[in-house]
Amino acid sequence: MFATAAIASDSPREMYRELAEQARGLLEGERDRIANAANFAALVYHALPDLNWAGFYFFDGKELVVGPFQGQPACVRIALGRGVCGTAAATRTTQVVRDVDAFPGHIPCDAASRSEIVVPVIAPDGTLVGVWDVDSPRLARFDETDREGMEALVRVFTDSLHAH
Ligand code: SME
Repeated sequence: MFATAAIASDSPREMYRELAEQARGLLEGERDRIANAANFAALVYHALPDLNWAGFYFFDGKELVVGPFQGQPACVRIALGRGVCGTAAATRTTQVVRDVDAFPGHIPCDAASRSEIVVPVIAPDGTLVGVWDVDSPRLARFDETDREGMEALVRVFTDSLHAH
């Protein structure tokens, strides 16, 4: 059984560092994308405060399709360039949205979501894998530290898919 060690740090940076270490341990030795995505989403969702959705959308060669997640049922398909997820995928840059109502084209899935962060997931060879999407019921829940922390976490996920 994987026991999640309590993250007792008051520093968000330190919290992300510890979480990345836990994620590395959790995904180590397994390369299956669905298995690792499911465990990754469960780990992050339960470790970080004030989240109502955390999960993946995977690129199927045409559009984004929902993958493993924690939270309420979500929209299944998102076109590249649409919403926060499609924008992150199309531009390959992390989107930190302080207020989802102020983001043009935001796709509401859970009415409770007020802010959101979406990190593109890119394979080492440059292929678009999909996006990692996290929602919060709190306005302006995510900042630059979250961007750095989430990007580091996503690297742990992509590394796990190619590790031997
Ligand atoms: N809000 C996202 C859609 C996905 S849900 O938040 C789970 C978007 O605008 O792309």
